[in-house]
Amino acid sequence: MMVRITIDGQIVHVKRHTPVLEAAKQLEIFIPTLCYHKALKAYGACRLCVVEAFRNGRSKLVTSCNYPAEDGLVVFTATDRVKTARKGIMELLLARCPEVPQIQQLAEKMGIKAVRFKKKGDRRCILCGLCVRACEELVGVSAINFTSRGTEKKINTPFGIESKVCIGCGSCTYICPTGCVEMVGGGSPSDGRSMNMGDLALAGCPNNYECEACEIDREFIEEFKRVVKDVRAKT
Ligand code: SF4
Ligand code: SF4
Ligand code: FES
Repeated sequence: MMVRITIDGQIVHVKRHTPVLEAAKQLEIFIPTLCYHKALKAYGACRLCVVEAFRNGRSKLVTSCNYPAEDGLVVFTATDRVKTARKGIMELLLARCPEVPQIQQLAEKMGIKAVRFKKKGDRRCILCGLCVRACEELVGVSAINFTSRGTEKKINTPFGIESKVCIGCGSCTYICPTGCVEMVGGGSPSDGRSMNMGDLALAGCPNNYECEACEIDREFIEEFKRVVKDVRAKT
């Protein structure tokens, strides 16, 4: 069933429950994202894709990557409320990961230069969960997950030991928007962890925050299936 929604004054018709983010892409409206990939279930972790949604005379801030389109929905992507929320989130990310080029570039694109928060060190993982979801939903092995809580939260294998189920496909490396999952060679050709996504992984940033415009991303699923099949055959 198709529904009609309005984004920044422009009308678009999409299938009911299409994420507002995807509807906005159809209108070529830029919404920053860090934890979204169209091949994976939306997770709503980074909150950067926040927009203001109006229904029944009331408005609220929602994450556009997992907010479903309903008939008559009205959305604004650049209100003062939205800009303030995104700015705060981006500043926190910059404080957490000051040296990550992808975060710096996105902040620049959003016009954010100064950070009000105290820098918390130099981390690279933004806890977006893309690697976890790729491993679970696309590879089907769940070799990695979030571990610990609060400020200690991070991505790791169960008990922090070498995973017996990881097939070394490199999907987590490929999909990580901040480049912090590195494949570590196992020293043996039969060790899947020494493999990577080959030319596909080296061809450029897989996300670049504009996945729909990216050749690599368009080819991702087919290439991904081929690589997983190859790796499985060798392990
Ligand atoms: S290399 Fe593949 S199987 Fe191993 S953790 Fe990454 S996505 Fe999962
Ligand atoms: S390792 Fe990369 S993909 Fe995984 S949660 Fe951290 S930033 Fe996201
Ligand atoms: S892209 Fe929507 S919450 Fe991260």
